[in-house]
Amino acid sequence: MRKPIIAGNWKMNKNPEEGANLVKELIPLVKDAACDVVVCVPATDLYAVKQAIGDSNIHLGAQNVHFKESGAYTGEISADMLVKSGVEYVIIGHSERRQYFGETDTTVNQRVLAAVKAGLIPIICVGEKKEERIAEYTDPLVTYQTLIALTGLTAEEVSKVVIAYEPVWAIGTGLTATDEQANETIGVIRKAIAGKYGQNVADQVRIQYGGSMKPANVKGLMAQCEIDGGLIGGASLVAEDFAKVVNFDK
Ligand code: PGA
Repeated sequence: MRKPIIAGNWKMNKNPEEGANLVKELIPLVKDAACDVVVCVPATDLYAVKQAIGDSNIHLGAQNVHFKESGAYTGEISADMLVKSGVEYVIIGHSERRQYFGETDTTVNQRVLAAVKAGLIPIICVGEKKEERIAEYTDPLVTYQTLIALTGLTAEEVSKVVIAYEPVWAIGTGLTATDEQANETIGVIRKAIAGKYGQNVADQVRIQYGGSMKPANVKGLMAQCEIDGGLIGGASLVAEDFAKVVNFDK
């Protein structure tokens, strides 16, 4: 009942011309996708990629958003600026932003509120570090990260967000959570949402897996009942690889 969503996270890769070319390659390969297809691109690529997307089935995403509407915040980009640039989705709270750029659960929440208010769909990233998994702290941690990120949204708004469960130890490392591990932790996240917003809302929220997801492992992960899609880093930079992930059901 939940429509799967596969999103590419290009991170700090591809200039505008390269980005537009990647999307042009992608369009014919993903035109019959049964899932929602999103590319989350660097801010400098938004215009060129939007032009390249045209009226295809690919949706445009950004990788961060500031929480203020406007003002003296040098270097930042507001939710309204993204909307007016044709953006529909925005990644919030990626572990790289938490690790390198001082992102906290509180600022994640502020960004989520600003994004939703402007009409963007946030892709909210949560996930544990290796030592946190070893210490068996994964379940309370992802519960806490998820519930703080959603604070202040109505149940109706919560039902439309996307959450990406990304175990930090699996990002860019080639290590993937096993299908069962990913499914189990995503189940924990859904249960946390059900506990606060009701089962009906939790049943609507799409929760992706992210962390070295690629053509070779997408089928197994997507066969799990709790996993509604993927947030794809490395494998989203090559059109054929990303298309194989998008067409996991073909
Ligand atoms: P990866 O990145 O697929 O390269 O592991 C995923 C992500 O960071 O979103």
